[in-house]
Amino acid sequence: MLTAAPPPAPYTAVGLGRDPRTQSSTPGESFTDRKRFATMTHTIKGAEIARSIRTRVAERVAAAGGQVPGLATVLIGDDPASAVYVAAKRRAVREAGMRDIHRHLRHQATQNEVAAVIDELAGDPDVSGILLQLPLPAQLDAAPLIDRIPVTKDVDGLTTASAGRLARGERGMRPCTPNGVIELLDAEGIELQGAHVAVVGWGQLVGRPLSQLLLRRGATVTVAHEFTADLTAVTRPADVVVVATGVRGLIGPEHVKPGATVVDVGIHRTPDGLAGDVRAAELDGIAGRITPVPGGVGPMTIAMLLVNTLQAAEWGAERDAVPA
Ligand SMILES: NC(=O)c1ccc[n+]([C@@H]2O[C@H](COP(=O)([O-])OP(=O)(O)OC[C@H]3O[C@@H](n4cnc5c(N)ncnc54)[C@H](O)[C@@H]3O)[C@@H](O)[C@H]2O)c1
Repeated sequence: MLTAAPPPAPYTAVGLGRDPRTQSSTPGESFTDRKRFATMTHTIKGAEIARSIRTRVAERVAAAGGQVPGLATVLIGDDPASAVYVAAKRRAVREAGMRDIHRHLRHQATQNEVAAVIDELAGDPDVSGILLQLPLPAQLDAAPLIDRIPVTKDVDGLTTASAGRLARGERGMRPCTPNGVIELLDAEGIELQGAHVAVVGWGQLVGRPLSQLLLRRGATVTVAHEFTADLTAVTRPADVVVVATGVRGLIGPEHVKPGATVVDVGIHRTPDGLAGDVRAAELDGIAGRITPVPGGVGPMTIAMLLVNTLQAAEWGAERDAVPA
């Protein structure tokens, strides 16, 4: 595993009940009272942890010698946000010493044209992994296109086959953002076995696969979504709260137990820069640890894409290790 060395942990999420700073907290108390018992909020430095993972990936690529992993990115249309994301991924690939392969199709590309490009990359031995940048233009049906990616090259972990392998606990590619969240929690030395983790959001990209990964790690997982009647009742008892809803500023101090770890997956472009799904400033002095936006989960997503590409190259070399 490419886990960064854990920094000293003042305390872990599990065992908070034994922490004298939190024992006085009761459900009815005011936020001011809660702040009195809380401690300094530690910012989880996702960018640093991601950099350390990327460095180790680059070292592994260099050590492997001639067999250079290759990532193929497929971008359709000219959506500015997608173009920025793909450019960042391609830059990271080159910095890791991997082969950067790119296909850019016009916005009006047909289902058959995109399918043909994916099939070509699927058959190319120089391509270790294929990433189809989402969202796709409205005329395209994403699911069947994603499912054309062979499971051994599915570096985004979004094919039906990879989702099935995750659900069954079989060897397979794990989606980058949820995998990055797990790496962050591991890097912080947060014990997941036995911890109560609330996952807010049940999306295909983040919440759903993340809840599976957390269950596999022995956490007790509660999943909330847009129809959850009482969100606070779900998140407030949790040792770790992970938020991936796309609703800016959804989570505030009323949702978080003093000392809990808060992971903010949301990304929103605002006139003042990037913002998340969590009102981070209001959690200062309440949360034990929190991921910033930017500089938290975002950089981990790219780092885990490199880890998956390296994995795909190793599976490519083994060929029959993960039957397609
Ligand atoms: N940091 C990264 O690298 C990264 C990567 C992928 C996605 N994201 C971000 O994560 C967020 C979620 O992405 P996604 O693709 O899973 O989204 P999605 O739209 O597929 O899912 C959103 C989920 O949030 C839930 N939800 C919506 N409103 C809610 C509410 N008021 N209370 C509780 N739950 C609510 C919905 O029920 C749904 O399950 C987005 O902001 C996206 O930009 C970030």
